[in-house]
Formats: sequence, C-alpha cells, structure tokens
Amino acid sequence: MAGRGEAVTERLRCVRPGAADAGDYQRLFGHPEVGRWLRPPRLEPMTVAAIELRLARDRADWDGHGFGPWVLRDRQTGAFVGRAGLAWITIGGESVVELPWAVLPGSQGRGYATEAALAAVETARELGLDRVISLTLPENRASLRVMEKAGLSRVGPVDHAGLPHVLYELELSP
Ligand SMILES: CC(C)(COP(=O)(O)OP(=O)(O)OC[C@H]1O[C@@H](n2cnc3c(N)ncnc32)[C@H](O)[C@@H]1OP(=O)(O)O)[C@@H](O)C(=O)NCCC(=O)NCCS
Repeated sequence: MAGRGEAVTERLRCVRPGAADAGDYQRLFGHPEVGRWLRPPRLEPMTVAAIELRLARDRADWDGHGFGPWVLRDRQTGAFVGRAGLAWITIGGESVVELPWAVLPGSQGRGYATEAALAAVETARELGLDRVISLTLPENRASLRVMEKAGLSRVGPVDHAGLPHVLYELELSP
C-alpha cells in the first residue's frame, strides 16, 4: 500500500526518496543522456555535488510539505527506474507544483514516465492541490509528449533558469 503522497501503479512503486537512493540519483542525473536535457550546454553540468543537493532538496520537500518527488522502482524487482512525482518550484516569483520526470536511458520508451506522471496528477488531486505545471525545453519532444499524455495543456513560452522553456498546466477541480 502507498503512503500519503506516494503511489503504486501497474508497474511502479513511486516512493519518497531516502539517503540510500544517493547512488541511484548519481546514476540517473550523471548520465549524459539525462544531463543534456536537465543541464543544457549553457548551464553548469550536474556535478556529483549538485546531484547530492538534488536529493537533499527532494527529501527536504517531503519534510516541509508532506509530499515531493518520487523515486520510481519496478514493483516486481525493486530496480531503480527514475524520478518523478511532485516538486515545488518558483516561476516568476510564484511557488507552483511541478511534475518532474527523468527515466534511466535503459528504461526509456516503455511508458514509465507517462505512468508516473498520471499517478502524480492523481496524487496531486488526492492532496487537494488546485494546479500542477510542467516545464521543458521546446525541443524536448519526449517530455512534451509525456505532458500531453498526462493531460496537461500548453500555456505558452516562459523563461526559466535563463533559458526559453514551454509551460504546460493542468487545473485540478475539487
Ligand atoms: C522525458 C523522459 C522522462 C520520457 O521517459 P519515457 O519513460 O521514455 O517516456 P514514455 O515512454 O512514457 O513516453 C515518451 C513519449 O515520448 C515519445 N518520444 C520519445 N522520444 C521522442 C522524440 N525524440 N521525439 C518525439 N517523441 C518522442 C515516445 O514515443 C512516447 O510517446 P508515444 O507513447 O505517443 O509514442 C525521458 O526521455 C528522460 O528521462 N529524458 C531525460 C530527462 C528529461 O528530459 N526530463 C524532462 C525534463 S523537462
């Protein structure tokens, strides 16, 4: 059974990250195929220290809000698949809940990001959030597709981290 803010899907356990996930975060965010989207050339690359900070911030989200980003694990094997869930970010001075997703390259193309994104939308509803958003670089076609398949709608272009992004959102009715 899933704890508050966590989820179980057909194939995934979507759980709060812990200190023991440090190695899997390094494998995911340190992978060049993932890093090239999350830290495009004009930004600082994801160093080991930056990835440690990513995990610390994800864990702090849970401590502060009672929900946050997930570690995705295969329900059958327990193998690490990626990161998704719900994450607080600031855009234009406003705090909003974003749906992040990153899947280990060896596990991409099997619908895991979409499965986790749909579970994150459902969890946001259960938590009583009124809106979730997602942001990506305009050329990140896989991420744009996940947004569409999770039911988000395009709002328009937005600057984020000094780079042009595309903003999508989903209003969640009570
Ligand atoms: C984006 C990402 C999480 C998608 O993970 P995934 O588990 O492979 O996604 P899914 O299998 O659920 O779905 C991907 C969809 O994008 C499509 N897609 C994948 N690569 C694509 C490409 N280069 N161009 C167009 N569509 C693409 C797939 O065909 C699929 O759509 P479909 O079901 O209609 O065929 C993964 O590519 C990733 O981790 N990328 C690096 C990190 C990243 O970019 N994160 C998002 C930052 S905003």
